Parts: sequence; structure tokens; C-alpha cells
Amino acid sequence: MGKDVIVACDFPSRERVMSFLELFKGRKPFVKIGMELFYAEGPDIVREIKKRGHKIFLDLKLHDIPNTVKKAMSVLSGLEVDMTNLHAAGTQEMMRAALEGLTRPDGTRPLLIAVTQLTSTDQESMERDILIKEPIDQVVMHYAKTAADCGLDGVVCSPLESGKVHSVCSDSFLTVTPGVRFADGDIGDQKRVMTPAQAKLAGSDYIVVGRPITAASDPVEAYERCIRGFVD
Ligand code: C5P
Repeated sequence: MGKDVIVACDFPSRERVMSFLELFKGRKPFVKIGMELFYAEGPDIVREIKKRGHKIFLDLKLHDIPNTVKKAMSVLSGLEVDMTNLHAAGTQEMMRAALEGLTRPDGTRPLLIAVTQLTSTDQESMERDILIKEPIDQVVMHYAKTAADCGLDGVVCSPLESGKVHSVCSDSFLTVTPGVRFADGDIGDQKRVMTPAQAKLAGSDYIVVGRPITAASDPVEAYERCIRGFVD
């Protein structure tokens, strides 16, 4: 699969996401649907956006006992999304169960991506709240390696970690990276950021871009700018 820009459609309603997607006319960006939109509108919003011809990354970050995750993944595979995810911290048993649940009777399945440590977690909160004392980059690489061993397709990570993930796992193990900002843009609450062109050089396979596109005065131009920097 080639490099692509995934637009994080963090909207609270069907109405808002549809009027946003209408701006793109014939263009069909790869769309990320997260908890906010999914919990507001339910699985129908996934079917509707899919029917418009968009690829979909369903970002629900599952983390529960293996049997529950397996069954939930089996429901999600029926939504025909292109990519979905879980927390690697749910253990290898959970990741393997998730893959089993996600795989359709004909052997096909959406890409399955693992969240390692959230970018909102830092060394201090990881040590204090979850009692993990190792350096955070070692923890991220360990989770990436276990996800790869379980047969997952990639991880969500910072673009700063993409190169290392590829060397620890493999070049074909996907790195899906949020934290992208334009050089002249506002970084907001993201801390460690890269431009689309820097993320390309760093080896990211997908960039996930939200507010730099959704809050731009011209979202289509902002999207095209990401494509020019990252894909072209
Ligand atoms: O608006 P912004 O470009 O910061 O959006 C980034 C998207 O990526 C959001 O939907 C956010 O939830 C998601 N994300 C992230 N960091 C992670 C995982 C997901 O920013 N570690």
C-alpha cells in the first residue's frame, strides 16, 4: 500500500462531517473516524462514508479481555473499514484474538494497527500511573515488536519514531503517524510535531492530520498541501 494522508474527521455529528466532506467534490480522502463521531452517530456513519467511496480508518483503540475484543473485531470487520486499531498493552493473547475476530470467512480483513504508548503519556506519567519504569522509547519499540510478532500490520507512533520502528520490525510494518503540522501553523496541544515533508523523510507510511485540515480556512487546499508534502 502506498503512502497516504488520513484526515482525522473529529466532528460531533453526521451533519458536520458530511458538510466537511462535501467540500472535497470529486476527491475522496482517506478518512479517520474516531470515538467522538462513532459514539455520536453509530455504525451507520461508517457505512455512509464508505458508500461515498472513502477509505476508512476506524480509530476505536480496543482494549479488553481477548474474547470480548475478538467478538467486537468480528462486528467491525462487517463494516468493511480499511484499517482499525487496538492497544498493544492488551497483551499478545488479545492481539491474536483480535486478528482472528477481524478475519472474514474468505480470509480478507482490514489492516490492524496497534497503539503503543499514547503521545499524551510521558515518561513521568508512565512511571507514576502504570508503574512501567523502562525508558518510553524502549517501551514503544517493545510493543511494536510484539505487535509485529502477533501478525499485526503496524503501529500508531510519532513520526519521530517511524525509522526506528521500521528497523526494529521491518520496512513493510506500517507506521501511522499523527502529530503533523505545517511549518507556519499552530501546533496546538501536539508536542512533538513534524511537517508532512519531514514525516515523509522520516519514513512514515501514513500521516494522520486533523485540525491543520479541518480547521483551515480552505480545508481542500490544506489537504492538497499535505499530499504535495507527503505523497508527491
Ligand atoms: O488535530 P490533530 O492533527 O492533532 O489530530 C490528530 C488525530 O490523531 C486526532 O484524531 C487524535 O485523536 C489522533 N491521535 C493522536 N495521537 C495519538 C493517537 C491518535 O493525535 N497517539
